[in-house]
Amino acid sequence: MASLSPIGIFDSGVGGLSVLRHIQAYLPQENLIYLADQVHVPYGRRSRNEIQAFSAGVARFLDRQDVKLIVVACNTASAAALTYLRETIPDMPFVGMEPAVKPAAQQTRNGKVGVLATEGTFESPRYASLMTRFAQDVKVFEDPCIGLVPLIEEGQFDTPQTRALLHTILAPMLAAGIDTLVLGCTHYPFVATTITSVIAEINSETAASPRLSTGVMIIDPAPAVARQTLRVLEKYNLLNPTSHTGSINLFTTGDAVQLQTMSQTLLQRDFVVATAVWQQNNLIPFSDF
Ligand code: DGL
Repeated sequence: MASLSPIGIFDSGVGGLSVLRHIQAYLPQENLIYLADQVHVPYGRRSRNEIQAFSAGVARFLDRQDVKLIVVACNTASAAALTYLRETIPDMPFVGMEPAVKPAAQQTRNGKVGVLATEGTFESPRYASLMTRFAQDVKVFEDPCIGLVPLIEEGQFDTPQTRALLHTILAPMLAAGIDTLVLGCTHYPFVATTITSVIAEINSETAASPRLSTGVMIIDPAPAVARQTLRVLEKYNLLNPTSHTGSINLFTTGDAVQLQTMSQTLLQRDFVVATAVWQQNNLIPFSDF
């Protein structure tokens, strides 16, 4: 029965685990299969064509694992490939992501919003459309956070290097007076605590500034993605009716041992991690070789 099938979730790397943890908490009975395309991470500066080819290969892989729905837990892949994926596998329900510009525009008190995302997301027509629809009345300050995803992939959540990069990214936004910050890449929630700490540091350094930003609200869209996943499952009558806790299986196109350690650190639990191997544009479970 399709409702017992797993939900597929993918990202270029560990970022989508920040979405998986909310889906697991919100829909604990669902079985989840996660794929991290770590041999190709980061996606952020790759071409649209390349991201479409990778995303379609991953979606076909998940389809062959018999998933009932796919969550594209990656803003960059959603921006480049969501429409293409829906055309490529028309029977599959997809849930995509976009930077939370709409809630940020509704919640900001002073009309100044910072957005952290990747270059690919900022340059996409989907992002341009978001800005036109929801950001007309607010001032948006953007940063493509170059180098941040690789640091997070290395497990550098709060090292001097990561703090220095975040300082460079956040100082101009705080000087401009933002009161709301959108995490428009699924990797960034894993440095949210460091972001809060760096904001406090910058504020203490610039305490005399008349445009000082205090109490910046940070928006992680993952809870909204979990709610949307529930709505789509309900729409297609695909909710898992069982009452026991679902399984979680992880795949990586990179190093399985490394993802096992990292996922344990990030989500505080043990996972089974397997390898999937790219053969041209097709992804094959290593166990099938
Ligand atoms: N986690 C991703 C996102 O939400 C992609 C990061 C990357 O691979 O550059 O955009």
